[in-house]
Amino acid sequence: TIPAPLVVAIDGPSGSGKSSVSRAVARSLGLAYLDTGAMYRAATWWCVDQGVALTDTGAVADAVRALPLVMGVDPQDPTVVVGGTDVTAAIRETAVSAAVSAVATNLDVRAELGRLQRAAIDAERAAGSFSGGRGIVAEGRDITTVVAPDADVRVLLTASEEARLARRALDVHGTADAEAVEATRDQVLRRDADDSTVVEFHTAADGVVTVDSSHLDFQETVDAVLAVVAASTARA
Ligand code: DC
Repeated sequence: TIPAPLVVAIDGPSGSGKSSVSRAVARSLGLAYLDTGAMYRAATWWCVDQGVALTDTGAVADAVRALPLVMGVDPQDPTVVVGGTDVTAAIRETAVSAAVSAVATNLDVRAELGRLQRAAIDAERAAGSFSGGRGIVAEGRDITTVVAPDADVRVLLTASEEARLARRALDVHGTADAEAVEATRDQVLRRDADDSTVVEFHTAADGVVTVDSSHLDFQETVDAVLAVVAASTARA
């Protein structure tokens, strides 16, 4: 009953479990997977690599318009390659995480990366209708609202601040003890506060289904999103 090609848009704040949940949903449904946050991270890595001052918004926008980016959309192995360099691991480093908001709040950058994201989604849609399968799960902060408001399924994945900090601490420090949570607090909350100045991802837009994962484990969250997909596609 799942129409092909299927486009699933998932937004949410840091630590909502968005990336791992979206990947699992894509795997389960046999869809491609696009991590748009990784694109903002890749753009940041590129600007630093090119020696562009992140405070120079015009230079950052120019650099991003020339970004030689290749996104791997296999949910088993989502890779990010910039100018032939595999930056999949490098874009997760603290230096990039700390700087990415400066790039993600640049409206010219958003226009350019949004254009690439729409092209990637349209390509999967076209490939799917041609081959009778597939489609894509795209996740980020503005996919349900700006990039793909026409997606077949739109989900806002939320979690309490406490749950989000604990998850990020576990990711980054391997533990969610008080010290690790404290060390994560500034990064997660400051970044979300900065990013919120240009995109709204704390409340669901019209037609977007909220999944609150605060009290769900990973598999329960994946199942909750799959249930939204099943319900939305049954109605369609
Ligand atoms: O989800 P993440 O932490 O990898 O995202 C990296 C940064 O990119 C984060 O600061 C939010 C921003 N972002 C955005 O502004 N819009 C998106 N669609 C995805 C991410």
